[in-house]
Amino acid sequence: MKKILIATDKPFSKVAVQAIQGVIKEAGYECVLLEKYTSPAEFHKAASDVDAIIIRSDVVDKDVFKVAKNLKIVVRAGAGYDNVDLATATEKGVVVMNTPGQNSNAVAELVFGMLVYLNRGGFDGSTGSELRNKKIGIHAYGYVGRIVALIAKGFGMKVYAHDPFVDRVLIENDGIKFEETAADLFSKCQYISLHIPLSKTTREAINYELMSSMPEGATIVNTARKEVIHEPSLIKMFEQRPDFRYATDIEPDCKEQLAKYKGRYFATSKKMGAQTAEANMNAGVAAAKQIINFLDKGDTTFQVNK
Ligand code: 3PG
Repeated sequence: MKKILIATDKPFSKVAVQAIQGVIKEAGYECVLLEKYTSPAEFHKAASDVDAIIIRSDVVDKDVFKVAKNLKIVVRAGAGYDNVDLATATEKGVVVMNTPGQNSNAVAELVFGMLVYLNRGGFDGSTGSELRNKKIGIHAYGYVGRIVALIAKGFGMKVYAHDPFVDRVLIENDGIKFEETAADLFSKCQYISLHIPLSKTTREAINYELMSSMPEGATIVNTARKEVIHEPSLIKMFEQRPDFRYATDIEPDCKEQLAKYKGRYFATSKKMGAQTAEANMNAGVAAAKQIINFLDKGDTTFQVNK
């Protein structure tokens, strides 16, 4: 019987795990569960005899592919797949997929949770500020960016977006102002919400030039990846601009240096964007179904290493 491993350092909710297990069992496959593992070795051991793996931000590197001799497919239950070594997967003939859109709403809602938290001084009794009538720039208009834009409209914000891969008409049809370049977006908007995936071109792309061009009250919220920010520039911004604020769902490597900017800096200690009951269920069950469709019918929809 083929084996499907759920390997999650940060587990799905119990109900979601039961649903995923149900889908796998129903299809006639065996489900193996590995949660909160304490070392890569533990993950490697569990992966050694399975045909498929469901992961979240769990790292699937060369070592995993080396030990997992039966592996045919890895599905990242979520959007970003920068944690999977795609080149090795392709070399070994392993299909890699993500589950686009399944956790987007959860991430988008957290953007506003963090923005309101920052704007209200961490709820410390001090006088805060409102989002209404302020300009927000959505940096990348994918599944999450689009929901952030629509929620921002509900807050009464003026919404702008930049995405070189999305047709301007699609953005404008949503009632969002299209910006040709990232530089235009940053220089116009007090608030910037980052939704760019991590790639060679986006690594450290949010640099001093972009950040320092932001207007008074400059606030960046990052629910994308920590690596898209150039951290020395981030530190410089905090030092030079007392109005600058940064909220992130992924602690930066320079977190100790930013700790002194309480009130202007906020980071979740665990990545919380996709951690809702709904997102766990949507992404986890979608991952299981994608694996079954692939193993049973060869369906490669959502493959990212073609
Ligand atoms: C994603 O890429 O889908 C998000 O970053 C969520 O990551 P997580 O599943 O590890 O919470």
